Amino acid sequence: MAYIDVCKQSLLYEGELVPCMAGGKEIIIMWPDGGQPKAYDAACPHEKVSLARGDFNGRILYCIAHGWVFDGHSGKCLQPTGWKLQEYPLRMADGMVQVDLDAG
Ligand code: FES
Repeated sequence: MAYIDVCKQSLLYEGELVPCMAGGKEIIIMWPDGGQPKAYDAACPHEKVSLARGDFNGRILYCIAHGWVFDGHSGKCLQPTGWKLQEYPLRMADGMVQVDLDAG
């Protein structure tokens, strides 16, 4: 495991999405309403358009490119089904958000 810092914990808010860079890779930290923050690869599994500018309403993330819809809690694609965002382990340490890209 190799956790690396990606942003300050104070930048995260429930119901919001925060884009970050981690080891040269673009990721998103998505904190769904009533859930916990999770880290995902920002590349949409459809055609790799960045989800950093996706439309997140606290429950569902819409890809702005072609409208694929992802569940904010699980990263599973709801429309169309059968796809999932690449998730990375996330932890908080010393006021920082850290992710482990090796475990993705
Ligand atoms: S790239 Fe995201 S829906 Fe097409």
